[in-house]
Amino acid sequence: MKEKLDGIKLAALEMIENAETTAQLNDVRVKYLGKSGEISAIMRDMAKVPKEERPKIGMLVNEMRGVVENALEAKAQLLARIEEERKLKEEEIDVTMPAHGKKIGTLHPLTLIRRELIEIFANMGFSVDEGPEIESDIFNFQLLNIPKDHPSRDMQDTFYVNENFLLRTQTSAMQARIMQSQKPPIRVVVPGKVYRSDDDASHSPIFNQFEGLAIDRHITMGDLQGCLQTFAQKIFSKDTKVRLRPSYFPFTEPSVEVDVTCSVCHGKGCRVCKGTGWVEILGAGIVNPAVLDMCGIDSKEYSGFAFGFGIDRIAMIKYGIPNIKLLYENDMRFLKQFN
Ligand code: DAH
Repeated sequence: MKEKLDGIKLAALEMIENAETTAQLNDVRVKYLGKSGEISAIMRDMAKVPKEERPKIGMLVNEMRGVVENALEAKAQLLARIEEERKLKEEEIDVTMPAHGKKIGTLHPLTLIRRELIEIFANMGFSVDEGPEIESDIFNFQLLNIPKDHPSRDMQDTFYVNENFLLRTQTSAMQARIMQSQKPPIRVVVPGKVYRSDDDASHSPIFNQFEGLAIDRHITMGDLQGCLQTFAQKIFSKDTKVRLRPSYFPFTEPSVEVDVTCSVCHGKGCRVCKGTGWVEILGAGIVNPAVLDMCGIDSKEYSGFAFGFGIDRIAMIKYGIPNIKLLYENDMRFLKQFN
């Protein structure tokens, strides 16, 4: 019996020694100590051992079982440590490896220009307002001194929603809204989208305008000129000059068109300014007293100036963008250049 026990012990110890994984070791455990394992079978067979020998054999079996259990436990700990180490090694992170570059988006050129414009006019004391893109005929035209049959409506090819509502053709529509709801002194700029049925390299059916309105006592054309001079020098360059030419808009009287010296050739003449040294950038004027009165501001007490220009046009001039469509196509190759 003792030899049989020793044989089992040696075989078990050898299998434990040879086990290379926790799973293999578990198989060994089951083979010897499991319910139908070899050692368990011997314990069951104890009944067949003669009574006198039982204590001695029982001790031997217990001792053998203890040795196997201890060996299993020791090997289990060893394997656990080895497996843990292998896992750590596999999952090791090399913090000195160069990182994957992150791609960060860019602000759209129109956003860049709009923010710059707001900053420039905020520094001159203007606040910022916004208005609806679906506008009533009243604000877009009538209160700006453009009645239903007025010929200047032909200047702007309007998208009508119905007889009385339209997609605003000009941020000037906000002039009337502001004058009706605020008391002078007023200094406000309005950036926003406008719509016209117009489509070529320099016109898009949707584009962005920037409107300015200042109303107070004793406002003159000189104030307008000084304001626009400052704006032009800030948005283009310090040496930019401004030129006012007489023009016509129904809501300003007198009206002017404003040119700036070409920011590409600085007045020498180039392709952008078509050789003239000047580029036209905006319409402006002294707010027509008829408009003030229609909007509830006493034209005998107050006067004002207004101006409006295309943010797209400023962006095109400043960044040398040849076609307005580039601003609305969201082509990554174009947008990336503003990083
Ligand atoms: N709203 C005009 C346009 O879209 C531009 C303009 C002209 C705005 C004169 C003004 C202004 O405020 O006084 O063509």
